Amino acid sequence: MHTLTIIGAQWGDEGKGKITDFLARHAALTVRFQGGNNAGHTITLKDRRFALHLIPSGVFTQGCVNILGQGMVINPKAFLEEIAMLKKAGIATKNIVISDRAHVVLPYHQRFDEALEAIRIDKVGTTFRGIGPAYSDKATRLGIRMADFIQDETRKAHIEALVPHVNRQSEGLGLPLSDVKQLQDDMAVLATELKPFVKPVGDLLHHALYENKKVLFEGAQGTMLCLDNGTYPFVTSSSPTAAGVPLGAGVPPQAVTEVIGVVKAYTTRVGAGAFPTEFNDPIAEQIRQVGREYGTTTGRPRRIGWLDLVVLKHAARTSGITQWALMLVDVLQNIDMLRLCTHYRLNGQEIDHVPASMVQYAQCEPVYTDLQGFKTSLEGISQFEDLPEPLKAYIHKIETVTGVPVGLISTGPERNQTIRCHPFHQLDWEV
Ligand code: GDP
Ligand code: IMO
Ligand code: MG
Repeated sequence: MHTLTIIGAQWGDEGKGKITDFLARHAALTVRFQGGNNAGHTITLKDRRFALHLIPSGVFTQGCVNILGQGMVINPKAFLEEIAMLKKAGIATKNIVISDRAHVVLPYHQRFDEALEAIRIDKVGTTFRGIGPAYSDKATRLGIRMADFIQDETRKAHIEALVPHVNRQSEGLGLPLSDVKQLQDDMAVLATELKPFVKPVGDLLHHALYENKKVLFEGAQGTMLCLDNGTYPFVTSSSPTAAGVPLGAGVPPQAVTEVIGVVKAYTTRVGAGAFPTEFNDPIAEQIRQVGREYGTTTGRPRRIGWLDLVVLKHAARTSGITQWALMLVDVLQNIDMLRLCTHYRLNGQEIDHVPASMVQYAQCEPVYTDLQGFKTSLEGISQFEDLPEPLKAYIHKIETVTGVPVGLISTGPERNQTIRCHPFHQLDWEV
């Protein structure tokens, strides 16, 4: 099976969209396998900048089929708006397919998301896209899947049965009550528009895999936001690691072969939760401005930290990452000293893992190795050999501490601002 799995190795926004688009030129299929429109994947094509939230980043590649997998939660209105945005920009949307097993985000999920955050003491800082409540309904078997949503009778019956239950919770949360007829009518309009996109995707994927076609699995969010591997409870409600692929795409575990860990050359986080390498000074502000570190989905300023290799080791272990795509290295230009966190200090002891206890994680102090920065511009560099020596040393340190080689280096948001290194060539992806 010729697949590549693209995983965010940090707290999201690592540049998964850019790398997926870059690799999609050689792929027959691109599959999103978890999350919803909490994701914001940016793709820059010359002077045009696209923000995708639900649709896989292979959509800019002619002939690539883009699947919204069964592990996703999909807001119909947001999906149709994204389709309209692409159409307006002249991008073909005929190769977009929604799995009939994907779950639907309903309007009350968003209201619950906001209300639940408001009453929480330890706020998660969610994107308010209804992601947590939609996955909760899936787990408690109150959700509705696309196959049933697009059928008039099943959708109507589902809403009729659901609304009394929703309203009991709404009362408790002090929210306005839902009206069965209103919700049925609103959803009927959306379901009609959604119907042509919804298909069983099992056969499509099965044949592609066994005919050795190239398939990309595009992760959303990142390892540290994983419901199981992340900094719980300050996480999202799905599984953004490679383990999420088989269930979320509906493929066998053997379909996960090569795993690219997408990692920023520093660290960012939006939302709440411990962040050991976070710092706030003029250099952090410089990184925020140069890297345009504002949320693609919510516009919130992203928190800034030095590169945390403990986080990367955790990502490599949990997803079996075979190579890194090191992103936004250009943003580090003109910083005198670059700090790399190799360990944490906890209660006087050095550790190199992410503790499960959030109390302990908040107490972890980063142990840094400081390296010289670089001043020269990376503009026009297409070979690793031509990178400034201090940057090469920085990359080498990442490889030796994590034990994972760097296969791709991104020096700007555009496709051609990508350097391929030896581990990437070994993949045979571009033939
Ligand atoms: P994603 O959610 O992982 O797809 O990442 P986002 O799109 O939310 O955030 C990454 C941001 O970095 C976007 O604005 C990209 O256009 C931008 N970007 C990606 N790679 C590079 C790079 O190498 N250099 C610079 N300067 N920007 C980049
Ligand atoms: P991409 O795919 C960065 C964060 C939110 C919040 C937590 C839970 O663009 O990397 P949720 O709305 O999912 O319940 O919020 O997760 N979060 C992200 N942070 N990038 C993302 O996606 C994110 N998706 C969710 O900020 O802290
Ligand atoms: Mg993003």
